[in-house]
Amino acid sequence: MPRLSVWFIRAALLYLAAGVTFGGLILFHKGMPLHPLLWRLLPLHVEFLLFGWTVQLVMGVAFWIFPRFRRLRGDERPVWLAFGYLNLGVWLAGVGLLLSTPALFIFLGRLAEAGSVAAFALHIWPRLKPPGANLPAKAIKK
Ligand code: HEM
Repeated sequence: MPRLSVWFIRAALLYLAAGVTFGGLILFHKGMPLHPLLWRLLPLHVEFLLFGWTVQLVMGVAFWIFPRFRRLRGDERPVWLAFGYLNLGVWLAGVGLLLSTPALFIFLGRLAEAGSVAAFALHIWPRLKPPGANLPAKAIKK
């Protein structure tokens, strides 16, 4: 597995653990009330599990297994950018919602998440190909 996928998948697993813990706490609190502030974890639960876990796992596995060209995956820089932006976005939006920070904070988080998807799409697009197709020369030069 390439190093980048290791990073994506390890980070995804950490978000899964934290997101499920928050979800479990909220669920427990619904049955046996612990503290009303626990509901504030809900946006973090959603952010961690939707973006931190699901999207991050998809990116990590896709980078690893999508078709390669002469055994190369192409330019990895946009994928590193996608990794950074995704995690920045999860924290900005997640913590922003948790602490009810100004909307700008959350907007910047969403912008980072959108930037991450765009950067990832830039990398993966030329790798979407039927078996045997050639890679555009610009995708393999690095
Ligand atoms: C990939 C996994 C998961 C995703 C994407 C996810 C996503 C969500 C979303 C979007 C909501 C908000 C629903 C709403 O506002 O109406 C939510 C609520 C909730 N989730 Fe999850 N969730 C996941 C797994 C879990 C797990 C494993 C648990 C428990 C251990 C859990 C416990 C809860 C609870 C207690 C709520 C609040 C329900 C309520 O409003 O009464 N979730 N989740």
